[in-house]
Amino acid sequence: MTTTEQEQAALDQLYRDFGAHHLIPLWTARDDLMPLTPQPAAVPHVWRWSDLYPLAQRSGDLVPVGRGGERRAIALANPGLPGLPYATPTLWAAIQYLGPRETAPSHHHTQTAFRFVIDGEGVWTNVEGDPVAMRRGDLLLTPSWAFHEHQNVTDHPMAWIDGLDIPLVHQLDAGFFEFGPDKLTVTETPDRSRNERLWGHPGLRPIGAQDQPSSPLMAYRWAHTDAALTAQLELADEGHPTALGPGHAGVRYSNPTTGGDALVTIRTEFHRLRAGVRTEPSRIVGSAVWQVFEGEATVALGEQRFPVEKGDLFVVPSWCEFSLEAGTQVDLFRFSDEPVYDALGFTGLARQAAGRQENR
Ligand SMILES: [Fe+2]
Repeated sequence: MTTTEQEQAALDQLYRDFGAHHLIPLWTARDDLMPLTPQPAAVPHVWRWSDLYPLAQRSGDLVPVGRGGERRAIALANPGLPGLPYATPTLWAAIQYLGPRETAPSHHHTQTAFRFVIDGEGVWTNVEGDPVAMRRGDLLLTPSWAFHEHQNVTDHPMAWIDGLDIPLVHQLDAGFFEFGPDKLTVTETPDRSRNERLWGHPGLRPIGAQDQPSSPLMAYRWAHTDAALTAQLELADEGHPTALGPGHAGVRYSNPTTGGDALVTIRTEFHRLRAGVRTEPSRIVGSAVWQVFEGEATVALGEQRFPVEKGDLFVVPSWCEFSLEAGTQVDLFRFSDEPVYDALGFTGLARQAAGRQENR
């Protein structure tokens, strides 16, 4: 055996011994562990409401809601994350369907949740015993560890979108879950929940209330969102600058105690684009899910372009170039994991790093 052959044999033995001791050297794995730019496994994808709703309806006919499964929720599973019920590596998005007079039992978990309603009404979500009406265009929050249950008091079904940080909490090994009472704990159906009566007054905060990490306001009503977007576009028409550019209005749902995001781990926003408006291509670290609330648009995701219309959902993976072009006036709900990236300091650093690479 030559010296070279002896060295190769020793090296081969070294790698076998690494394996036997559950060790992996950095020098064989660096490209995957520390890529030059984010390399998301999640891919751009569109789920059509015209597919989702009928499938949810069929589930309503065939699958009961009850203890164990807990919810009739059908998750959007990103084709780039095969076998996982995840829209992105951090975000869960699902259509939930509750039939006439059905209830979904009480539970709580460390995962943060919200509901966004694209159509219908008649379901109340009881959050910590406070009944919150769910109606078209509303955003309803269920912060981490808040007990919640749903009841449909009508003779017609209702469907909505659930957004949660299930994949993030799974990766963090921070999931806790407890069942609540088997029977519905609250049956009242008030027009306004107690949290709205206390917190739902613009710019007015109850004296003595403490800051809270998640918003104490559990319902953001469509009338307020719509009025804010309408006013932004009107102000722009009158020559007053607004943040997002001509023909593009946007609001972020915020925590009235801090001014920050309404939820700790999930950013929630609503956008309105006038017909013909095209947004500048942009990309961020962190992933997002959008749902068209009304109207038609074309979304560009990397090299792909997709037409989208009312109810359709699409996912924007981390670092994927993204832009929108409004066919008609279009309203869109958006949620993302950006608060996590902001808290970790990645948002600004990613911009700097990308700028350096482009200038080379
Ligand atoms: Fe839940």
